[in-house]
Amino acid sequence: MTVYFPHPRTPGFIQIHRHDAAAVRAELAAGLLGPVACTAPKYLYDALGSRLFAAITELAEYYPTRTEAAIVARHATEITATLPREATLVDLGAGNCEKAARLFAPLQPERYVAVDISVDFLRDALQRLQCEHPQLELLGVGLDFSSSLTLPADVGAGPRVVFYPGSSIGNFTPTDALAFLRQARDAAQGGAVLIGVDLVKPVSVLEPAYDDALGVTAAFNRNMLLHINRLLGSNFDIAHWRHRARFDAGHSRIEMYLDALQEQRVVWPGGERLFRRGEAIHTENSYKYSALAFEALLLEAGFSRIRCWTDSRNWFAVFTAQASA
Ligand code: AVI
Repeated sequence: MTVYFPHPRTPGFIQIHRHDAAAVRAELAAGLLGPVACTAPKYLYDALGSRLFAAITELAEYYPTRTEAAIVARHATEITATLPREATLVDLGAGNCEKAARLFAPLQPERYVAVDISVDFLRDALQRLQCEHPQLELLGVGLDFSSSLTLPADVGAGPRVVFYPGSSIGNFTPTDALAFLRQARDAAQGGAVLIGVDLVKPVSVLEPAYDDALGVTAAFNRNMLLHINRLLGSNFDIAHWRHRARFDAGHSRIEMYLDALQEQRVVWPGGERLFRRGEAIHTENSYKYSALAFEALLLEAGFSRIRCWTDSRNWFAVFTAQASA
């Protein structure tokens, strides 16, 4: 007897964004030399930073990840009923692909496209997913979409569901978030977006979420200096920097800083900066929206038929919105 096994699918991978070391160094140096030193939050995520972020999502104080997951689990049928069936599911910032995988059963996508800054972050997760979902077409795309969201033609024709969970949209300024949403609308090709958004809430909840008792967020923030040392060739000594997080009500955002514990000169090839004691490096903003304000942003970006689900405390919101008129 001959047994035929169906030809197993294997995930495809495309790397769009190439690491341009000179451009990275120029961007870092420009930020460090600004009137208030600043760095883009993407530099928080080297291999250790990504693991530290995963640990943050498990902290009691950091409510967004588990609150979003609970909203999606509770309303999965209703949420996915607003989204096109048999579409391409595009997962922005996919990482371990766990959140999107929970949508496979209710959404039944035809193809799953995981996008992250490097395809290397996606290889293991997509290979694992392919074993669990042998019939699903999987594609990993390495792309830094923080500056421009232009997906390669290989992602295919037809409507897409653009999935952007975790309130990562909060790490853009509202102006950049609007520009990003406009690009997401184009990228959806007449389909829809599914976006998680963190909501405004008491400072007594917000600040500990970004300055936890165990010090994991502090390690995540300070680790950025080690990452910068490798990228820029600088000599930051993390012993001389302290993590700080504060909610700025005027901007409706959590701001993360690293404060110099003593005066120090930081040098790198071609540049240097003297940091006075108490001087800060601004490392991240995390904007908190009201559901109404985010709905207005989606409308301004050209979306229609906007739906929103929240938890009982109104801490987090999951939005779907249609890219077609
Ligand atoms: C990835 N992003 C949505 C997180 C946030 O909540 O803004 C990053 C983070 N920073 C500190 N803790 C978590």
